[in-house]
Amino acid sequence: MNTRKNICFIFFSLFCSIGYSQETNYDESKVPNFELPKVLLSKSGKDVSSVNDWENIRRPEVLKMFSEQMYGTVPETEVSVNFVVRKEINTALSGEATLKEIDMIFSSKNGRHKASLLLFIPNGVKGPVPMFLGLNFYGNHTVNPSLEISLHQSFARNNPNFYIFNNRVDDNSRGVRSSRWPVEYIIRQGYGLGVIYYGDLDPDFDDDFQNGLHPLFYKDGQSRPTEKEWGSIGLWSWGLSRALDYLETDVQVDEEKVIVFGHSRLGKTSLWTGVQDERFAAAISNDSGCGGAALSKREFGETLQVINNAFPHWFNDYFTRYNDQEEDLPFDQHMLISLMAPRPVYIASAQGDEWADPKGEYLSGYYAHPVYELYNIQSYNDPTPPEVNEARMSPGVSYHMRSGNHDVKQYDWVKYIEFADRFVR
Ligand code: GCU
Repeated sequence: MNTRKNICFIFFSLFCSIGYSQETNYDESKVPNFELPKVLLSKSGKDVSSVNDWENIRRPEVLKMFSEQMYGTVPETEVSVNFVVRKEINTALSGEATLKEIDMIFSSKNGRHKASLLLFIPNGVKGPVPMFLGLNFYGNHTVNPSLEISLHQSFARNNPNFYIFNNRVDDNSRGVRSSRWPVEYIIRQGYGLGVIYYGDLDPDFDDDFQNGLHPLFYKDGQSRPTEKEWGSIGLWSWGLSRALDYLETDVQVDEEKVIVFGHSRLGKTSLWTGVQDERFAAAISNDSGCGGAALSKREFGETLQVINNAFPHWFNDYFTRYNDQEEDLPFDQHMLISLMAPRPVYIASAQGDEWADPKGEYLSGYYAHPVYELYNIQSYNDPTPPEVNEARMSPGVSYHMRSGNHDVKQYDWVKYIEFADRFVR
């Protein structure tokens, strides 16, 4: 190789290694022929045709595959969680809401760690309220400009647009993400909102699992998760379930009507959370893409190799064996959606978000319909997606593709409230 070629090669490898391969496919005609594993066929070859067989044979099998081969298993180590209501202000949002901050204190023989759960509960409503619960990317204080919200001390990704430098947040980033969290609107619809900063649970960078909550779970002599144990998505999910443990104790919250919500990597997380923890009434995945709602075998937009190279800490190590080997996967994301049945799930895409493969996101919901049908629950069974900005809602899976880009917009929340109103009221 001459020097020029050498330099080009180095740049190309660098480009690929950060995850954005030049070969990303955005051409429908180049989607490989693939066969999806049958969600209603058990490993032993039995056709699953009853709720009983689904719940006792096939569902556990499918859940185990996702757990052992993708998101990772939860270690059995004893980690205790204590909740301390640190702040309660009933005049928040100009008197419209009660704001609470709950310290979630995690401890094991390896140490202690703290995360903060922020709640907004509408005032003046009768009885316990239904809630949306989700993780956020930069801190609870970015969700709303209220000065009452405490700043976190955890690592945050630098973002000059949000005035976040040196991986620390300060007052300048208050409310910078309020467009994604229309708190006043949600409250006025009679819903509560709970959020946790995901970096309080596990900072989102690859440090071989030395920070965040992972180390609390290590057995003596262990220094990182084993091949099948969880990565960051698994841990973020676990944190959401612990928040639900708290919500079950809060008299202002209807714990049977908690909907887990997430965007993008946190939409992958909300799906995995809803699937594992059947106490959640429903799950919403906003633009979750590869490793979330999108079918991996389509290899459209982001692929497994790309995601695992760029974010080696999200899934377990076992999952890397499917890098560029999507055809070997014994499961696909339609089976993840199926695991939500009979509970409702909402999959949302954005038209400009080809990286997340909107069609693949829609189709995973489509291929989940046989499982909802076992429960006699109607779910969309049309392989053609609805028009842009036209939601297709059903008691099983609901879907919309919003115009615009990878983001959470008011339109999305209007639809999520409409969706939730159908089963919480
Ligand atoms: C990257 C990543 C996606 C992820 C997204 C996000 O684009 O490739 O898989 O969903 O980040 O979380 O914003």
